[in-house]
Amino acid sequence: MKRIRLHDKNFKICIPHDVIQEKIAAVADKLNRDYAGVENPLFISVLNGSFMFTSDLLKMLDFQCELSFIKLSSYCGTSSTGEIRQIMGLTSNVKGRSVIVVEDIVDTGATIVELHNMLTKAGVKDIKICTLLLKPEAYKKEIKINYAAIEIPNDFIVGYGLDYDELGRQYRDIYVLDTTI
Ligand code: IMP
Ligand code: MG
Repeated sequence: MKRIRLHDKNFKICIPHDVIQEKIAAVADKLNRDYAGVENPLFISVLNGSFMFTSDLLKMLDFQCELSFIKLSSYCGTSSTGEIRQIMGLTSNVKGRSVIVVEDIVDTGATIVELHNMLTKAGVKDIKICTLLLKPEAYKKEIKINYAAIEIPNDFIVGYGLDYDELGRQYRDIYVLDTTI
């Protein structure tokens, strides 16, 4: 599908599935190199948006790891509210662990800062951030984004896990808001 309509808005395709897979493979290669000797790293996937990315990424890893989920929300409609709500907390013990946070997209970075503080307080040994998408024009925080598969302009996108008010997560491609029609 080249175009989709969700609620009141139109979207057009911008990153096809095969490109997404290539970019994820490049990140997986780096992780495979960096985590070869690390004991049982723990991936923490931030729901809901990163479910598809997490699934595809983990299938490409060749080291032993654990996976846990957390559910946070900052978005309302097509913009970040800046206020992070924790909907489902951490279920694993993270003390002394090497943690890799898996995000769908880093936009303003409010979510990452909140999560970073939370994990630091919980006594993790090491935190790395891995995101499918990064909006460098919007991200002005100090925390280093260690693995970013794809950098995009400051546009609103959906698909491949990302939603517009809960619709659009199931698409295999990524779509951008089309304001021309
Ligand atoms: P941040 O806290 O501003 O960095 O926003 C991060 C969260 O907002 C992401 O995990 C997404 O769930 C959501 N988000 C940010 N940009 C977009 C977008 O373009 N489309 C859909 N969701 C987005
Ligand atoms: Mg998210």
